Amino acid sequence: MSTNEYTYKVSAAGRVNLIGEHVDYCGGKVMPCALSLKNTVWVRPNGENVIRLKWTDLPEEYELDLDKLESYRDLRHAKYHAGCAALWREAGHKVVGCNLLLDCTVPFGSGLSSSAAIEVSTIAALATAAGEKFDPVEVALVAQKAEQVYAGVRCGIMDQYASANGKKGHAILLDCSTLEREYIPVELGEYTLVIADCKKPHNLVESKYNERREEVEEALRLLKRHVEAESLSEVPPYVLEEYKTLLRGTIYKRAKHVVEECERVRRAAKLLKSGAIAEFGELLNASHASLRDLYEVTGKELDSLAHAAQSHPACLGSRMTGAGFGGCTVSIVKKSAEEDFKAYVAERYERETGYKAAFYSAEIGDGIVVETL
Ligand code: GLA
Repeated sequence: MSTNEYTYKVSAAGRVNLIGEHVDYCGGKVMPCALSLKNTVWVRPNGENVIRLKWTDLPEEYELDLDKLESYRDLRHAKYHAGCAALWREAGHKVVGCNLLLDCTVPFGSGLSSSAAIEVSTIAALATAAGEKFDPVEVALVAQKAEQVYAGVRCGIMDQYASANGKKGHAILLDCSTLEREYIPVELGEYTLVIADCKKPHNLVESKYNERREEVEEALRLLKRHVEAESLSEVPPYVLEEYKTLLRGTIYKRAKHVVEECERVRRAAKLLKSGAIAEFGELLNASHASLRDLYEVTGKELDSLAHAAQSHPACLGSRMTGAGFGGCTVSIVKKSAEEDFKAYVAERYERETGYKAAFYSAEIGDGIVVETL
């Protein structure tokens, strides 16, 4: 498909989270990396009152009237773009008529945040078409709102933040209560990150995700009767133990995951900075175990994939990444044994589950990139 007619090329990244899972909406710290897998938007202003959308690999085309943006909530693909435009304008920005051509290399449903990449790149493209400079943090916040309002997921800020603000070769240590960030170089020496997709068609992710959020909100409400804390991430693990009897079984397990995962992120950040990759890998394994046993968001397939990886001698650690209930694992693997690792994991995983895993080659890339054509 020709891209000659467009004026700008704007992209935003998918992401992989190294550690800090299901803590962003509890005010915790997370450690995502933007990926070279991304959503690209070619854009040109069209001088009309419509946004025209087409894709490099889909037959559908849409025309969105700028005066009716709120009415497109049920459109399968275009609801995200309509939502982004409506919310960006609601945030006080100019949205002009334009033609967009879209292309996504982040696999859908993989837990690598294809929707965040689509939302963030769309908003950045709309701002660029309107001749506005934008703040990537604001773009991320509006994109998060689009996900909440138009996709019905009460997501935290991690995915959209990473998609917009990622930096090549670095993890983002993001404090989700203040949005302060620190970039940490990901220097793994003779090791590399391997992303594996369990390829299980997943459903109900939204409702299960929202259910977890309600559970940890309930935990905080109960703890607040005795503990001074604005968010669960402020509660140290020993304090949770003191007030354990306040919480019902399931609620306690969810809260225990959150407070311990926050603790693991603090340790992981120090280990990554000091190059202690083996200990960092152990924290990945511990994070997976907690997501499996306490937060219960892994399931048979992700467990099989992570356990297969963890049992390979060239692997320092492996865990599910993202919301869970399907999607991907991230593993730290010795470069020289990468092919053997993949063959071993794929074989064992297929034998145990009947699904064929997919492996993605991706570098740690930048967040939003704008090019004038
Ligand atoms: C999804 C959400 C994020 C985050 C992760 C779990 O990816 O969009 O905000 O909560 O799940 O860590």
